[in-house]
Parts: sequence; C-alpha cells; structure tokens
Amino acid sequence: MNAQKTAQTSTVHPRLEIRNLRRTFQGRNVVDDVSLAVMPGQVTCLLGPSGCGKSTTLRMIAGVDMQDAGEIYVDGALVCDTVHRVPPEGRSIGLMFQDFALFPHLSVAANVAFGLKGSKAEKQARVEELLEKVDLLGALKKFPHELSGGEQQRVALARALAPRPSVMLMDEPFSGLDERLKDDIRDSTLEVLKAEGTAVLLVTHEPDEAMRMADEIALMRDGKIVQQGAPYNIYNAPVDKKSAAFFSDINVIGGEVQGALVSTAFGEFLCPGHADGTPVEIVIRPQHLRIDFDRAGRGPNPTPQDGTPARGIVERARFMGRESLVDFRMDFDGSILRATVPSVFLPKQGTPLWLMLRRERCFVFPQT
Ligand SMILES: Nc1ncnc2c1ncn2[C@@H]1O[C@H](COP(=O)(O)OP(=O)(O)OP(=O)(O)O)[C@@H](O)[C@H]1O
Ligand SMILES: [Mg+2]
Repeated sequence: MNAQKTAQTSTVHPRLEIRNLRRTFQGRNVVDDVSLAVMPGQVTCLLGPSGCGKSTTLRMIAGVDMQDAGEIYVDGALVCDTVHRVPPEGRSIGLMFQDFALFPHLSVAANVAFGLKGSKAEKQARVEELLEKVDLLGALKKFPHELSGGEQQRVALARALAPRPSVMLMDEPFSGLDERLKDDIRDSTLEVLKAEGTAVLLVTHEPDEAMRMADEIALMRDGKIVQQGAPYNIYNAPVDKKSAAFFSDINVIGGEVQGALVSTAFGEFLCPGHADGTPVEIVIRPQHLRIDFDRAGRGPNPTPQDGTPARGIVERARFMGRESLVDFRMDFDGSILRATVPSVFLPKQGTPLWLMLRRERCFVFPQT
C-alpha cells in the first residue's frame, strides 16, 4: 500500500507529448503518425534527412501550423487536437530556430527581458540569472551588432528560456555557426537547458550533433519515426540498412539464407527467422573490419569471432588525421569494401591485405 503510494507520487510526467500527429500536404503525409514524449530535463533529437518532416512536426507543436490528425500535450494538458487549439503564446513553449533574430534596436538585457512579465526588479533578476548562465553578464548593455555570432546565439537562448517555458523547440539552432564554435556552444547550451529542467525537442540532420546532444534520438524518415532510443542503441542496433547508413559509411555484403545461415566469402553468418532462399544483406561499419597482413598468399587462421578472412587489394588509402580510410578491391567478387584503421597505418595502393568481419558488429537485414 505504502510502496504503491510512493510510486504514484514520484511518477514524473512528460513535459511534452505528441500522439499520432499527421500533416498532409497535397495528398502526401509529410508527417505520418508521429508520437513521442519528452521528460523534464531531457533532450530528444528529431534526426533525419532533409525533407523528412522534422520542421513540420516542430511547427505543429509550436502552434504555427495545425495538424490534420493527432494531439499535442504540454505538462499533461491538451494544447491542440483537431478541435481545440491553444494559440502559440499560450503553450509554454520556447522557440529557437536557425535564423533566430535578436531585436537589433534593443540591448542584450532588453532582448532577454522581452517576453517577461512581472515587476521591474523580478525581470532584472531573471535577465541577470540567465545572462550569467550563458556567460554574457558583461554584455548586458551591448547591442546585437556588437556581438559575435556565437554570443548572439547565447543571447537568443537566454531570451527563449527567460519565461521558463516547459518545452524548448530548437530547429537546427547551431547550423549558422562557425564549425569550430559549434561544439563549445552545443555543450554550454546543453548545460543551461539541463539546469533549467526544460524538456527539449531539437531538430537536426547531423548525426554527430544528435549523438552529442541527445538523451534520446527519434530517427525520422519519410514522415515517420523509424527508430527511437538512446544514441548508443540507435547506433549499435539499427533497425535497417538505411538507419545504419545514416550514421556512417557502411559496407554491404549480399547473400542468401540456407538453413538459417548465409554463406559468404567471410564464412557463415547466423540469420534465424528467414526462410530458405531469402536474399539478405550483411551490414558492417568501416571501423569494425579487422585487417591482417598477407603471409605469402595466406591470411590469419580463422577465429570463431572473426570468421573467415578474405583477401583484398588496397585500391586507395587516405590519411584523415585520427584515422586512415582504406578502400579494398576484394578478390572474391571485385567489390569494394571500406575500412577505417588507426592513422599510424597507411598502406600503399596495391598492397594485399586480409579482412575479417567482427561477427558481433555485423547486422543482417533482409534485402530491400
Ligand atoms: N506549407 C507546405 N506546403 C507544401 N509542402 C510543404 C509545406 N511545408 C513543408 N512541405 C513539404 O513537406 C516536406 C517536409 O518538410 P520539412 O520542412 O518538415 O522537412 P525537414 O525534415 O525539416 O527538412 P530540412 O532538414 O531540409 O529542414 C518537404 O517535402 C516539404 O517540401
Ligand atoms: Mg527543417
């Protein structure tokens, strides 16, 4: 009885929840049955290629566009279904878009105070609290044109957070920034958002940004969320070939199922649950190929973990700083496989080497 009571009172509810959201343009479902929930202090990244419906989803949540089906809840309260509609300013949602524009004629302090209610002293306290968080207390009296792009971005963050929104929607907020600035600003932004306890839905098409920022990634394709989970899980257990390919280069080796196995030049792979004759694809990321030297035409002895080695000839090797990118022309079928290796190793073109696939790093998918 007591335990049950504790469990109930300690339940944390999502700050943002969307259920079965759909948006149709010219007969096409641009957003198609999208559902997700974001908890307080959590960052969820809506990640996907250009045109997959990310911004459209955000615009419906913000209230600047209206869904054709589905519901949006903030702090458990319905803010929009196809009948009821709370206007954007009543939703307790903060916005930060790529082309965030500060008011050029207002000081930094006035920009941050813009959406604030309350007494002058309260407003000033909140403005100073936020500017301190984004490390710009010293720029209080400056005007936007006196700030760098990164500083302007931090002011925009402070402005969006000032009224303590329950939810922050961010659409590619870092894409206008200098490449070298980005990582620092991403980290400091994350710190401020976490400290404020806001639930964040961040849109990006960059997997690195999503993995850096997100507690959870919702991978979107053609209007649908195809996979959702922690970055580690999405990266290491993709649902299909396209999901795997969204995060890195991939190698694909074809085969056909016979007796729950598929035979390849790299040995046999288990693929239970597929009928005999099913064409399948074995997918592996370049960093998970193992390379061994050629010993007078022979490779290493096979291990159960690595399967059978297959020989390839170095077609091209590129030094990339931290690693080298090596393309091999494989003896068994003339196809190209790509491996990344530590950059201390940069083999010459024409070098024969042996490749092995780390079994635990291979994904087997039915051919699409
Ligand atoms: N008002 C509109 N009328 C018609 N089609 C639209 C409208 N808004 C968006 N679309 C279409 O919906 C699809 C999804 O657009 P959306 O802007 O949501 O993509 P996105 O995932 O944000 O892409 P990007 O990464 O390029 O910003 C696109 O094909 C776009 O052309
Ligand atoms: Mg967009």
